[in-house]
Amino acid sequence: MHLLVVDRQGQEHRLEALEGWRVMEVIRDWGLSIKAECGGACACATCHVYVDQEWMSRLAPPTDEEIDQLDSAFFVESNSRLACQILMSPQTDGLRVTLAPDGE
Ligand code: FES
Repeated sequence: MHLLVVDRQGQEHRLEALEGWRVMEVIRDWGLSIKAECGGACACATCHVYVDQEWMSRLAPPTDEEIDQLDSAFFVESNSRLACQILMSPQTDGLRVTLAPDGE
């Protein structure tokens, strides 16, 4: 399965991914720029991504913890999600996300 990621320069990357991995881990392990300071504990919001609109309804809805963290993030949009809270699965195979600005 794979993930499509648009970096902050607007370049799209097709990343091979494994089922059960967090989207954040796939992005980080392929060397794209994502801070993910808390390591996936839903405690930092530095893994903020924008999900393509067509995918929004196909993802599991955010937990209260994710919504709380997004409240503290910069540049939040209606399609904002935390990449550590999205798991790769047959339902998310081919998911396309864009890295949010890092807020600095
Ligand atoms: S890595 Fe910290 S909230 Fe996702």
